[in-house]
Amino acid sequence: SRRPSIYYRPINPNDLDRLEKIHRDIFPIKYESEFFQSVVNGVGIVSWAAVDRNRPGGYSDELIGFVTAKFVLAKESEIDDLICYGSSQGEETLIYILTLGVVETYRNHGIAMSLINGVIRYASGLSSCRGVYLHVIAYNNPAIRLYNKLMFRCVRRLNGFYLIKRQHFDAFLFVYFINGS
Ligand code: ACO
Repeated sequence: SRRPSIYYRPINPNDLDRLEKIHRDIFPIKYESEFFQSVVNGVGIVSWAAVDRNRPGGYSDELIGFVTAKFVLAKESEIDDLICYGSSQGEETLIYILTLGVVETYRNHGIAMSLINGVIRYASGLSSCRGVYLHVIAYNNPAIRLYNKLMFRCVRRLNGFYLIKRQHFDAFLFVYFINGS
């Protein structure tokens, strides 16, 4: 069998259907079509795709993983109390990870780790950026292990943050601090 050859690239409009399908398959939350439009058109959202260039059957450019994120002003974020403000006069930003996913057959190969590391590298190159943060549902152990391994810090447990099929679930808020925060 062929060895996967994972390659990372920006998400583009041709990824729309596949991106929607993977979100539907792996997340308990429904995302609106407006969200997917913003992702593939890069409107207010930064994102990266993982593809397997050795995938047979003409699927060598089809998404097998993704991460989507958006910019948030640090002072307007829910973690503004954790940010060190300097001379940037309130222009400090954060990157908030919206969704991260890898299709089941490609899990445990370090793809999610590479995607998140890509976000951290990108954020570290921005002088105004103070960190990367995200919410994760409290029972999602694989994701929680991943964020811990990548040196994110769990700063909060939010009671009943998620509402799924009329049931409330807690969330953890994880932050990766950058540039002295
Ligand atoms: N060989 C073997 N194992 C490896 C390798 C490798 N080359 N590289 C990494 N691993 C291990 C990691 O150490 C890790 O092990 P651990 O669980 O024992 O700590 C494990 O594989 C998983 O790490 P990755 O491979 O980097 O993660 P993966 O690509 O499997 O994706 C994810 C993890 C995204 C959580 C996936 O399970 C998924 O899509 N789940 C469903 C959706 C989801 O929960 N998304 C996150 C929600 S939170 C949010 O979106 C903000």
